[in-house]
Amino acid sequence: MNTENFYVTTPIYYVNDKPHIGHAYTTILADVLARYHRSLGEDTFFLTGTDEHGQKVQKAAEKRQMDPKQHCDETVVRFQELWRKLGITNDRFIRTTEEYHKKVVREILQELYDRGEIYKAEYTGWYCVGDERFFTEKDLVDGKCPECGREVSAIKESNYFFRMSKYQDWLIDYIQTHPDFIQPSFRANETLGFLRKKLSDLCISRPKSRLSWGIELPFDPDYVCYVWFDALINYISGVGFHRNQEEFEHWWPASYHLIGKDILTTHSVYWPTMLKAIGLPMPRTIFAHGWWLTGNTKMSKSLGNVVNPMDMVERYGVDAFRYFLLSEMSPGNDANFTEEAFVARYNSDLANDLGNLLSRVLKMTLRSGGVIQPPAELTADEAELNAEVDKAVAAMESCLLAMKFDQGLAAVMNAVRAGNRYMEKTAPWSLAKKGELARLNTVLYTAADALRRVAVLLAPVMPSKMADLGAALGYNRNDFAALKISDLKTKKSDLAGRTVQDCDALFPRIQFEAAKEAEAKPAKQEKAAKAAKPAKAAAPAGVVELIDIADFAKVQLRTAKVIEASRVEGADRLLRLRIESGGEERQIVSGIARWYTPESLAGKSIVIVANLRPAKIRGIESAGMLLAAKEGDTLRLVTTDGEIASGAEVG
Ligand code: ME8
Ligand code: MG
Repeated sequence: MNTENFYVTTPIYYVNDKPHIGHAYTTILADVLARYHRSLGEDTFFLTGTDEHGQKVQKAAEKRQMDPKQHCDETVVRFQELWRKLGITNDRFIRTTEEYHKKVVREILQELYDRGEIYKAEYTGWYCVGDERFFTEKDLVDGKCPECGREVSAIKESNYFFRMSKYQDWLIDYIQTHPDFIQPSFRANETLGFLRKKLSDLCISRPKSRLSWGIELPFDPDYVCYVWFDALINYISGVGFHRNQEEFEHWWPASYHLIGKDILTTHSVYWPTMLKAIGLPMPRTIFAHGWWLTGNTKMSKSLGNVVNPMDMVERYGVDAFRYFLLSEMSPGNDANFTEEAFVARYNSDLANDLGNLLSRVLKMTLRSGGVIQPPAELTADEAELNAEVDKAVAAMESCLLAMKFDQGLAAVMNAVRAGNRYMEKTAPWSLAKKGELARLNTVLYTAADALRRVAVLLAPVMPSKMADLGAALGYNRNDFAALKISDLKTKKSDLAGRTVQDCDALFPRIQFEAAKEAEAKPAKQEKAAKAAKPAKAAAPAGVVELIDIADFAKVQLRTAKVIEASRVEGADRLLRLRIESGGEERQIVSGIARWYTPESLAGKSIVIVANLRPAKIRGIESAGMLLAAKEGDTLRLVTTDGEIASGAEVG
């Protein structure tokens, strides 16, 4: 049984969609945990991967008129590439369509079937032909399809069931006697609440006539395995179960299954009872983190507020993104992602506190010869700073064991601020002026050593930037990256004698406000725009401002009907449109003559910006603006999907 080794997993993600910030978060959290445990000198294994069977994936493939396996092969790459870009150090990436995984699932199914843990039963369900979906009696609304309200037909269906119900009492007892098993503890209570109702057996099959994309049951070729039963097994097939007993026992039971709160029941009820039936020990901790929201609402594709992790990374860099996610969310609770909050935290913690301390130390050391000298006599000021850093080391270690990275990082930032206070108090710049060299060496050494230790503590979160910091202090990047938290406690500092390297600002300040202002007042005055320009140029390329719903609400979009259109003499790009919107007529001038003839426009339904300040275009009044999509050489008017009255609000 594994007690010292560290084995962490993420959920395996469905390949039906693009990875978003939620997937990125769980995976970065697992990565940071894995890196910290490696840094503590523990043997560590980190597993992530993709969930490739089941209805969602089959549907996604059907939509693309593609073979499901081919669809998986194409979409899995998005996850693999993103993890590479985010610096994820998983030891293995498992796909549930791998032969070996499928073999393990079939072997487990057969064994449980042979032992009577899985049985077949017939029951009546309700089928909606239109939706091609199967419902239970409970699902129906007034005896009709809960999705579309149409008639449903009774069909008798046989399926295979796992005897989950018989483990109910055992599971309740296990959760109550193992407080670490489900974390945070309120999630354990949630599970216990769920277990107050009688647990039913788990349907683990799907008839191929309804769903064919899955692992075929070894004892009945007319069925495939239910996707969750298949997926959960990745946690053991991924570390050698049924293939390499030694490897498996080295890692199992897992130290952490990291999951989002959406999949608590499958992990805290299905999985433990499956393991119990298989005869395997329980994972040490199932940790469910909260939800990333945008603007305090749930992220969803239909709301269009899904944060794409790659955009953030391209704008602000991988390490800053990792730092923000880890410092902003108290694992367990929900957190809100806004670009403003991101920039605010970046500027205060990274650009100001950490970046400043480094640049001060570098500047002063370079001015006094560039080599970090050994310290002379230590005073209470040095003792105070060293104690702050010691505190950060201890805090980081205990916080990471308690999964409280936000607090651990806050403790490290406290030490950084103590470093800045130390610099101000000891004022090395005036020591240099006064020629007090021994004292100057002590101060620069002490501050640099605080930075060295802080960088080791932050390296699992910001691996690349902290290697840069190490290089600035005169280390080889790889040697510095190999420094462990455990070294901080056992090894003496090897800083003295190193030659510091000047480097660009580690975290250049982001001028988000300035960029925003410049965008908000488009060329109101040449002068104002010019003044804002340098600030904008300092911001990373492609800063896009996120807006609140209130900002969007300022724009009044309405449907309108084109009454007639005509060419504008002397301007062959322009058309003059007479439109009607909600009983009101107006004239709009638009540069669409290359794509639309005046005749083709009459009677068309379009979308206009109704509250745009009127402007004169080529001397002709234009009241509002029409919406069109343009890509390369193609332009298409935005219209509505079907008839609707003119003047209808769009939003
Ligand atoms: O559920 N905030 O896969 P999935 C935080 N294949 N985390 C989020 C999030 C958000 N807004 N949205 C998603 C599945 N996540 C199954 C898992 S495991 C044997 C099978 C993260 O692609 C979070 O970790 O829907 C959540 O649990 C996971 O993505 C769900 O990913
Ligand atoms: Mg999901």
